[in-house]
Amino acid sequence: MKGRKINDSVCWMGAVDWSRRLFDSLVPLPDGTSYNAYLVRGSEKTALLDAVDPAKSDLLLNQLDGIDRIDYIVAQHVEQDHSGSIPLLLDKYPAAMVVSTPKAQGMLLDLLGIPEQRVLTVEDGKTLSLGDKTLEFIHTPWVHWPETMCTYLREDGILFSCDFFGSHLATTDLCVTDQAAVYEAAKRYYAEIMMPFRSAIRKNLAKVETHDIKMIAPSHGPVYDQPGFILDAYKDWISDSVKNEVVLPYISMHGSTQRMVDHLVSALAERGVKVHLFDLTVTDIGKLAIALVDAATIVVGTPTVLGGPHPSVHYAAHLANVLRPKLRYASIIGSYGWSSKAIEQIAGLIPNLKVEILDPVLCRGCPQGEAFAALDKLAGSIADRHAKL
Ligand code: FEO
Repeated sequence: MKGRKINDSVCWMGAVDWSRRLFDSLVPLPDGTSYNAYLVRGSEKTALLDAVDPAKSDLLLNQLDGIDRIDYIVAQHVEQDHSGSIPLLLDKYPAAMVVSTPKAQGMLLDLLGIPEQRVLTVEDGKTLSLGDKTLEFIHTPWVHWPETMCTYLREDGILFSCDFFGSHLATTDLCVTDQAAVYEAAKRYYAEIMMPFRSAIRKNLAKVETHDIKMIAPSHGPVYDQPGFILDAYKDWISDSVKNEVVLPYISMHGSTQRMVDHLVSALAERGVKVHLFDLTVTDIGKLAIALVDAATIVVGTPTVLGGPHPSVHYAAHLANVLRPKLRYASIIGSYGWSSKAIEQIAGLIPNLKVEILDPVLCRGCPQGEAFAALDKLAGSIADRHAKL
């Protein structure tokens, strides 16, 4: 795709990666992604904000054909999907300087081998004049690495936000046209990448909102020409409020845990509690992460394998722990054949979750009357607590 004009001074460049299906060898990308770079031309100087993943550097270099001079390459974030092509750009533009936070400077050297003398560091709030255009640098640490910053183009009110507000979404839309699709992709992005840093996000959101933002140009997904849409969504996600929802990831090997899960889902539904159910043999972990953004409660369902939880449940519990969702309650249900340490082991996997553990329900073999009664009691405990949210 060719570069695309946003206004007379700003041009979208970069790559739409339609076929990528995994990020960090971990995060599913059902809708692909994009690596957005932005060329800002002032009356005296030209800056390129971010670059692209090295796998797509040829696309960016083609777009830059005919651009004889770049004075500044702003590295808002050192993760390689944005910075990985910078060494090639420095070869193409030998007079260009990389602009970064002081924290990012060492990372640019360590991760990409960029010579120190080619990095110009900028403090929080500092500006760089391009002539009739002014770039203001807003340090936004921990969205989602320690060195991250945003850049505000003062004369146009455009906030270049890199990963912040981004969405893994391959599309030909330059700006958002399908808010529902972008909401889903941006929430997935928030859940997988940003949620562990919720308190940092909250501070940085307040910080960028002190600016008059007319447009947000992230480095993944389409541009927000109506930024209120994504700002409001982020305010909801980072708030302390939780919803009357249960996330229930589970595995069943021979049907016993499945029967318990089915019973609990029905009991919760009867009590007006929404359940997000994930059979971990087929689950897209991104969907699980999305559900964790809002839910008040997680219930983990597991059979016992070699004395502890099923390995897939172990993985899901670890994931929930590191994503640090704002859950308030947790419980465990499942079955075992002769003995089990599943409850103790799962509880030990989630130290980051500041939750009240509700009475777990573990039964030997196939669940019967007593187990179903305990599941009904658990559903009642959850519904009672959710009624007071
Ligand atoms: Fe899109 Fe943190 O890189």
